[in-house]
Amino acid sequence: MNLLRRNLLRPCGLIVLCPLLAGCRPATPPPTPLSQLNAQQRQGYRDFHVYCSQCHDDRDADSLHGPPLLGVFKQPYLPSGAPANDERVAATIRDGHGLMPPIDIDSQQTQDLLAYLHTL
Ligand code: HEC
Repeated sequence: MNLLRRNLLRPCGLIVLCPLLAGCRPATPPPTPLSQLNAQQRQGYRDFHVYCSQCHDDRDADSLHGPPLLGVFKQPYLPSGAPANDERVAATIRDGHGLMPPIDIDSQQTQDLLAYLHTL
């Protein structure tokens, strides 16, 4: 009986848990390993940890003050439902969005950050 229950229930548990762990967003392919980032993406990674990481996770799916940015460009839409493209994310950084304040960075830093976000 125990054996039966374990074998039947374990797959069910996994099916229920996975969407919860992923924050109700479909799972996306894993981020590019840090060791494989090019120079621009590495700079974006550094900028992310100066300007964004106090509110956003990049490499796991936990919510901090804002939604996780893991897989942000691998989904068609941002959490707000806006299209997930460079233009929209750059506007979010420049102007802020809802509870997110505008982030004061220059256009080179924005390009570097976008390059990094595309690897997530
Ligand atoms: C002080 C905290 C804070 C900082 C710093 C911050 N964010 Fe956010 N961010 C938020 C919050 C909160 C939201 C959710 C906004 C809402 O929907 O009300 C958000 C939402 C977003 C979204 C989703 C927008 C949408 O349309 O769904 C993106 C993309 C984003 N942030 C990117 C960034 C990037 C990139 C940085 C660094 C340059 C950054 N954020 C810095 C708090 C922050």
